[in-house]
Amino acid sequence: MKRETKVLKADEESIAYGAKLLRQGKLVVFPTETVYGIGANALDTQAAKSIFTAKGRPADNPLIVHISDISQITPLVSDFPEKARKLAKEFWPGPLTMILPKSESIPEVVSPGLSTVAIRLPSHPVALALLEQSGIPVVAPSANRSGSPSPTTAEHVLSDLNGRVDLILDGGDCNVGVESTVISLANEIPMLLRPGAITPEMITEVIGEISVNHAVLQEVDANQKVMSPGMKYKHYAPKAEVHLVHGTTEEFVKFCNKQNEPNIWAMGFTEDLKEIKIPAIGYGKIDNEKEQAAELFKVLRELDSQGAKKVYVHAPSTTGLGLAIYNRLLRAAAFRRIYL
Ligand code: TXA
Ligand code: MG
Repeated sequence: MKRETKVLKADEESIAYGAKLLRQGKLVVFPTETVYGIGANALDTQAAKSIFTAKGRPADNPLIVHISDISQITPLVSDFPEKARKLAKEFWPGPLTMILPKSESIPEVVSPGLSTVAIRLPSHPVALALLEQSGIPVVAPSANRSGSPSPTTAEHVLSDLNGRVDLILDGGDCNVGVESTVISLANEIPMLLRPGAITPEMITEVIGEISVNHAVLQEVDANQKVMSPGMKYKHYAPKAEVHLVHGTTEEFVKFCNKQNEPNIWAMGFTEDLKEIKIPAIGYGKIDNEKEQAAELFKVLRELDSQGAKKVYVHAPSTTGLGLAIYNRLLRAAAFRRIYL
């Protein structure tokens, strides 16, 4: 269905308008601290369904339900275990999504075929105000066309979703830049399904041992049953063929300078760029993971607009926030890795 997409600067008036649209079953894009999300009423099957059409999202990929206050969780889940309560106390509002056993109030379209539901309480003031004023739980996947990098600015959203959503609330750049950490608390040992700004180290400090799902760093077959269906789809992919290159600054620079095909780009750390002779773009300083996360999706989109055909990306570390960046880049690279 073709929609007329309004873009409004997020302020008191536009947020109130967005809340009204959400209650009417419309699609409203809003900023969160991680990335922009497309919101719809989580308890309205038709509204939630229309998100899949707008994004071109596979119907078996479940949605995250967003709330503005912890008291909203009770009717949505059938159990809120102690470890989940501890994590909520420590990290909400913030970039953490918890998978919990779902209650009967969750429509089938939100968690198709699953016994669980994903819940997140974001910290961005625009997201919180919109959720609060709507008075309803809101499903919100990242506001990109399925398969392309998540949007961290309203311009990214417009270029993917113009004519497909009813309203975009422009709240400027998202400061985290990668999607929320997803952790399942539906089983005995909590399991990290998607790394994000709340790192495994931070989580372990609060609830003890967790496991990390194999799909975080490995390729899974499209037909395989996985705990987080989002992991099996090609994600964050720019049009260029991306390769993730492991090595020191010196090795990476030398490797890049040997390339001589047209439209080959290097995507490296600020420190790499000085010596690289092929077209190159930076995604933050080598020891500044916060900066790398914030730049990541913007840079992947920029490479598309530059017409890059092949991109060699200098691999980040896999500790702390680095794991989230590495996980997204690995998918952007369709798991192509080079070790120097
Ligand atoms: O930061 C974020 O989480 C953003 C902002 C907008 O809040 N949202 C977001 O949603 O990234 P989305 O739909 O793009 O990613 C949700 C991920 C998918 O990988 C999905 O498979 C997984 O969470 N997921 C959702 N519900 C799940 C469930 N019940 N069990 C396992 N995985 C689930
Ligand atoms: Mg997404």
